[in-house]
Parts: sequence; C-alpha cells; structure tokens
Amino acid sequence: MTPRFLPAALACGVLFAAAAASAQSAPDGKQISIQGANGAPACITCHGARGEGNPAAGFPQLAGIGAKYLDEQLEAMANGSRVSPIMAATARALDPAQRAAVASYYAGLPSPLDTDRLAATAMALAKPADTGAWLATRGAWDKNVPACNQCHGPGGIGVGANFPSLAGQPAAYIASQLRAWQQGQRPPGPLALMPAVATRLTDAEIDAVSAYYAGLPKAADLLAAQANPATGAK
Ligand code: HEC
Ligand code: HEC
Repeated sequence: MTPRFLPAALACGVLFAAAAASAQSAPDGKQISIQGANGAPACITCHGARGEGNPAAGFPQLAGIGAKYLDEQLEAMANGSRVSPIMAATARALDPAQRAAVASYYAGLPSPLDTDRLAATAMALAKPADTGAWLATRGAWDKNVPACNQCHGPGGIGVGANFPSLAGQPAAYIASQLRAWQQGQRPPGPLALMPAVATRLTDAEIDAVSAYYAGLPKAADLLAAQANPATGAK
C-alpha cells in the first residue's frame, strides 16, 4: 500500500468503527421482538407476530400502545415494582436502550382494534344489572369510581400516551392488574389514578368489568352487524 492510500484506509476504519458504535447504541426493536436478546426470549412467542397478544393464554396486546407507557412497564417489571413472575427475567435481561427500542417498535405497530366499532359500543345503553358494562360506561359514583371509558376512551380504545387501551385485553390479565393495584404490586402510575379506582372495586366488579372489556371487540362487531347487516359482518 502506497502512503497515498493511507488516509483513505484510515478514514474507512474510522467510518467503520463509527458504524459499529452506532449499531451498538441503537438496538433494533423488531429484531429483539423476533429473536430476543441477552438471553431474553423472543417477545413474539407470547405477544403474537404482530403484537396482537394471546387472549386464551392471557398474554396482553402490545401493538399500538404508547411507547413511553410500554417502556415504563418494562422498567417497572425489571426493578420489581410491578410484580410479574413471567416477565421479570425478560425485562431485566434487556438494557434500558433495548427496552426503549422494543417499546417503540410495538408502539409503532398498527393496533388490531377497530376503534370506530368499539367507540359505538359506548353509546349502547347499559343496564344497571350488567355490572361490567355499567362500570365501563357509567362508573360507580356512589363510591367515586368514574366510568372507565372516561379515561380509557369510548369502548376502551385508549387515549394518548398515558391511558392504555383495554378492549380485547385478556380478562385474566385485566383482572390481575386491578388486583395488583389493590395489593400494591404495581406502581401507582400517573396521579395514582388506578390505585384509587381499583381499591374501590369489589372482586365481583373486577371480574365483570374485565370480562366486559375482553369481549368488547366481538360485541362491537355484533353491534355493527345489527346496525348494518350488509356491511357489519366480518
Ligand atoms: C413467556 C411469555 C412472554 C414472553 C416471552 C414475553 N412476554 Fe411480555 N408479558 C407476558 C405476560 C403474561 C404479561 C402480563 C404481565 C403479567 O401477567 O405479569 C406481559 C406483559 C408485558 C408488558 C406490559 C404490557 C402492559 O400493557 O402493561 C410489556 C411491555 C411486555 N410484556 C413486553 C415484552 C417484551 C418486549 C418481550 C420480549 C423481549 C416480552 N414481553 C416477552 C408474557 C410474555
Ligand atoms: C381517572 C382516570 C382513570 C379511570 C377512571 C380508569 N383508569 Fe385505568 N388507567 C388509568 C391510567 C393513567 C393507567 C396507566 C397506569 C400506569 O401508567 O401504570 C390505567 C391503566 C389501567 C390498566 C392497565 C392496562 C395495561 O395494559 O397495563 C387497567 C387494566 C385498567 N386501567 C383498568 C381500568 C378499569 C377496569 C377502570 C374502570 C373500573 C379504569 N381503569 C378506570 C386511568 C384511569
């Protein structure tokens, strides 16, 4: 090699080192979801190929939920303030940059929820005896519980970065999170809104409202089919 080529070779080496460093500092969220990382298993095996979750197994949907919210949950599960025997080791295995990358990857996936149809369920009249629907759309004002939809959006479709969607989440998952707040096994979150709600609910109310939101996407399709038989069926 003549000295004339030396600067180019050097520049090349510098560029290569810079590329390698940036690859290290910017982990690939999609790759983590498919392959796992640092011994953490692939997320898709439980949360589904498109982050849609697995209702039968009780694995929550992640697609389309706020990045900051998902990242905070991973951090809380890693440090143990959100108790999750199934997620703790996985969350701990990822470093903060990897958690942020995989959180923003899932936040960017399209939500499987049909928000128009779900929002329409909020207009359907609930009967007081239908505890789940009543709590979701009316709340229990005799004990200062606002309607869940007031924060989680009509039909539980989620609102902005802080209020996650509830529609279609597994019933067992929703119930376990409400009980975790009752027992101090999940951080209070923004303004401690959820501990205030959860500690005022009875066991039966938790089961009813969890089943209501879990079944809401199906109920929303049914409602749409009744309203418009020609286009409602899916
Ligand atoms: C063995 C199955 C399994 C694997 C693998 C798994 N998860 Fe989970 N995940 C769960 C379960 C179950 C929950 C619900 C928490 C609980 O029940 O303790 C959950 C909860 C979460 C939550 C909280 C969701 C919310 O709405 O609050 C996030 C975020 C999450 N997982 C991300 C991931 C990521 C990222 C990976 C891959 C690195 C992953 N999970 C791998 C089963 C799994
Ligand atoms: C005053 C506002 C408010 C009301 C009313 C409310 N929530 Fe929430 N909810 C929140 C906030 C904020 C969070 C996010 C908490 C966090 O960041 O940890 C949340 C989170 C949740 C989660 C966790 C979701 C997940 O994927 O991790 C569940 C389950 C939940 N709420 C159920 C309900 C139910 C059921 C009701 C009605 C009985 C209800 N909420 C009423 C504000 C509210």
